[in-house]
Amino acid sequence: MNAMLTTPTRKRLQTALEHASGDKRFKILEVHMKKHLFRQDALIQVLHKAQELFGYLEDDLLLFIAHKLKLPPSRVYGVATFYHFFTLKPQGKHTCVVCMGTACYVKGADKVIAAIQQQAKIQPGETTPNNQISLLTARCIGACGISPAVVYDGVVTPHATPESAVARIEQWMTP
Ligand code: FES
Repeated sequence: MNAMLTTPTRKRLQTALEHASGDKRFKILEVHMKKHLFRQDALIQVLHKAQELFGYLEDDLLLFIAHKLKLPPSRVYGVATFYHFFTLKPQGKHTCVVCMGTACYVKGADKVIAAIQQQAKIQPGETTPNNQISLLTARCIGACGISPAVVYDGVVTPHATPESAVARIEQWMTP
């Protein structure tokens, strides 16, 4: 494990790696890094892919990337925060990421996101005024077999419908 890390960071990385083993999106991201031969100068491309898969760049995800590219986490955080096209962890208590990749789209992801937008009264990339919910989109999260897929607070949920999405949003709206 990365010798540049402090003990708390190392612990967080450990947790991130454990989490990564059960989440297909980390595998897809790793394949992408491999395609770039784990080159450190491919960091921006890797961050783009990560955002495409997860909708935003959470701490654990940045640590995972730093570990795999053998870069200091400060460098990865620096790049992720410098460019406006990267979104770090949204401020809402809950996050809802709707996959808008082709397979999900043809199975009705557009209707799911429209229902969420209407219910929460926010657009993708926004957070409700009471900071309860942030809405984001992703492009193919590697779960096409269960499309349309929506990720609620980091948990990939299969076969979303406008009704199931509205039910979740209603539940979250009440603080
Ligand atoms: S298009 Fe949504 S999981 Fe692949």
